[in-house]
Amino acid sequence: MNILVTGGAGYIGTLLVPMLLEAGHKVILLDNFMWGVKPVLGFVHHPNLTLVAGDIRDERITAPAVRQADAILHLAAIVGYPACAGDEHLAQTVNIDGTRLICKLTGANQMLVFASTGSTYGQVEGIANETTPINPLTLYGRTKREGETMVLDKGGICLRFATVFGISPRLRLDLLVNDFCYQACHNGVIILFEGHHRRTFLHARDAARVYLLALDRYADMKGGIFNVGSSTMNYTKLDIAREIRKVRKFYLHEAAVGEDLDKRDYEVCYNKIASMGFSATVSLADGISELLKIVPYIHVQNEWRNA
Ligand SMILES: NC(=O)c1ccc[n+]([C@@H]2O[C@H](COP(=O)([O-])OP(=O)(O)OC[C@H]3O[C@@H](n4cnc5c(N)ncnc54)[C@H](O)[C@@H]3O)[C@@H](O)[C@H]2O)c1
Repeated sequence: MNILVTGGAGYIGTLLVPMLLEAGHKVILLDNFMWGVKPVLGFVHHPNLTLVAGDIRDERITAPAVRQADAILHLAAIVGYPACAGDEHLAQTVNIDGTRLICKLTGANQMLVFASTGSTYGQVEGIANETTPINPLTLYGRTKREGETMVLDKGGICLRFATVFGISPRLRLDLLVNDFCYQACHNGVIILFEGHHRRTFLHARDAARVYLLALDRYADMKGGIFNVGSSTMNYTKLDIAREIRKVRKFYLHEAAVGEDLDKRDYEVCYNKIASMGFSATVSLADGISELLKIVPYIHVQNEWRNA
């Protein structure tokens, strides 16, 4: 199959693209390389990979890429509420206008899979499933809700991901588990706020794997929303810190120093995606252990340091 992956140079995309190539697909990777080209260096040589460097909002770039594809896996976005709040115009134009353009260009016989998020739920009582009314509280969540509506109108699939964690060629240290590992290794301390908040997690390789399932079972999944995660991976933030402390000693201090603006404090039901044959293969403990192998050697540069 010819598969277009927008955002293929990102955290999930750089795990997904090699899986698709390995499965024998031809991949067109469309990305504006916001985070540089380093993350694609490990697989850019592949003969079945075409790189398109550009902006999804530019029809001259996006139209020919979509035209060649049997399936469009749309991941490109401004990701997370802090990034969206940092540049609201960019977030709106990329996440909403960019998705609108992709939907407009996608034909009835092409597959379309959209990366959405549990941040669309907002504050939820009880266990959130795909029929739970959504009420996103941040611009990020609202842009993803708009994206979902457009993709569903087109008959595509919306994947509402749990918070992803683990190693990827385009590593993100802003994600909760990854950030805690970094703080434990480099600061020796985690100041934890909202430690009792229940969150839901999925390893980045499993987040990438679900796309292969969506392609395989497209006929059964099209037009649907799927929470993507695992019922075995609902944890409080305190649970995460304790799991890291089993392997790496650090000082844990709880204090009311912050707030999650997405109000993520919920359990999520994953029965629907499980019924399609999906289960998580990487546990929290294994993901933490691989993070702790490499995170001690990652140094975020401080240009003001004097030593
Ligand atoms: N990582 C998570 O925990 C998580 C959770 C829920 C949903 N998601 C969704 O999964 C998708 C991928 O997330 P990620 O974690 O890989 O994020 P990421 O920021 O690493 O990847 C996004 C990619 O999109 C590209 N991009 C941004 N604007 C673009 C534009 N205008 N034109 C072309 N490319 C552009 C970036 O360069 C980047 O490579 C996103 O849609 C995100 O909302 C991620």
